[in-house]
Amino acid sequence: MNKINIVVFGLGVVGSSLMKIIENNKYVIKDTKINIVGIKANNKNKKRIINTKKYNWIDDLSSLKDLKIDIIIEAVGGTDKFVNSLYQYAIKNKISLITANKAQLAEKGPRYFDQFDKENLFLGFEAAVLGAVPVVKSISDTILPKKIKSIYGIFNGTTNYILSQMYKNKISFKDSLNLAIKNGFAEQNSSSDLSGKDATHKLTLLSNLSFQQKFQFKDISYSGIENIKLIDLDYGLQLGYKLKLLSISEKIGSKFYSSVAPCFVNKDSLMANTEFEDNLCIIEGDDFVKTSLIGKGAGGFPTATSIISDLATYITTNNYKVFNSNYSSMTLPSYVNQNARNRSYYIRLSVANKVGVLKTITQFFAKKSISIKSIIQLNPDDSNTVPIVIISNVVSQKKIIEITKLLKKNNYIKNDISTIRLEDNIG
Ligand SMILES: NC(=O)c1ccc[n+]([C@@H]2O[C@H](COP(=O)([O-])OP(=O)(O)OC[C@H]3O[C@@H](n4cnc5c(N)ncnc54)[C@H](OP(=O)(O)O)[C@@H]3O)[C@@H](O)[C@H]2O)c1
Repeated sequence: MNKINIVVFGLGVVGSSLMKIIENNKYVIKDTKINIVGIKANNKNKKRIINTKKYNWIDDLSSLKDLKIDIIIEAVGGTDKFVNSLYQYAIKNKISLITANKAQLAEKGPRYFDQFDKENLFLGFEAAVLGAVPVVKSISDTILPKKIKSIYGIFNGTTNYILSQMYKNKISFKDSLNLAIKNGFAEQNSSSDLSGKDATHKLTLLSNLSFQQKFQFKDISYSGIENIKLIDLDYGLQLGYKLKLLSISEKIGSKFYSSVAPCFVNKDSLMANTEFEDNLCIIEGDDFVKTSLIGKGAGGFPTATSIISDLATYITTNNYKVFNSNYSSMTLPSYVNQNARNRSYYIRLSVANKVGVLKTITQFFAKKSISIKSIIQLNPDDSNTVPIVIISNVVSQKKIIEITKLLKKNNYIKNDISTIRLEDNIG
């Protein structure tokens, strides 16, 4: 029987779950046993779901040199000096690395990808994108990356959970966030999830893999769900739409459109019906048309199973490239002008309950050459204001920003204007 020696850095939700799985299942992959030769976290004396006393505690990186390590598992998180020292140590000492840390890979990875390729070291990141959903393996092994036209879906379980609770319990964003924290689906500080940053980290990595180009985190625009109001979810549903935090990268000619933003999708679509902590990844291509992967996007055990999957890839493969081809020969993508991708928009206004206001609004739209697909006047909020929802015809984001500015200047229109992109042909 062969064995591979691993050290586990980070013994929190993911690291401890991984150790528990390895202990319970005594994994043997292709006649190879997984052997934990060292562990490390911040606090040696913290009580954990595993008995850390059974293992060799790593005090500092210099004590790794006698351990004959094959793989470093990084489940620490963040992009700080310590995490970077792990990547540098791995490259310098020709050790492969498996990580659950999408922030590090998306933001600092470009410093290291080429070096992992050149040294033929494995850099596994299945656990870093969509938890237990085997999206990296599916793209690498079963889908020809060069044929992929678009990759999109729900890449963050916390925000999907919060939106699902808002719909189900008819509660505000804030109340839903508190419930998600209470139920263990959000951290006290979930800003990276809520702002769309976490989903953008994953989109960056999956875009590299799908399109074989060097997508950079800093070049992808993102917005989150912090300002989403229940009233818009209700009105959207009445019109046949459900709101999701959509991550998307799509090829348009030889260029790309990549973004993370809250969007309305058709309420009967798979995306609309992917609820709570589930993640979804849809891949569309030239020949295979469409493939969908759905499953638990986070949590200790689901994520740890993806680390096991990466260990299996390491054991059964011997030619390693982070994104399946030489990173150094990949080029930077060009993006389409964000304003060149036209879509319909949902626009909600609160207007004064006065004769002639509707006419004024439609004149503004005409002035900006935005045609209106439908306009719905809803029951008055009170005797003084009336909510109006407009669905525009397809138009650029630039024009929507311009009309919003114009509308805000009008005395009859309250400042609280919601604009949400409609993606009614996907999902
Ligand atoms: N949780 C999930 O569901 C999930 C899913 C997918 C991916 N991920 C990713 O997995 C990574 C870990 O997440 P997690 O939820 O497991 O985090 P966590 O519960 O906060 O665990 C982090 C671990 O890292 C240790 N640590 C922190 N700084 C360290 C340092 N300087 N040296 C050594 N150890 C250090 C901590 O030590 P102490 O325990 O002693 O404080 C803790 O054990 C993150 O990149 C996260 O984005 C998490």
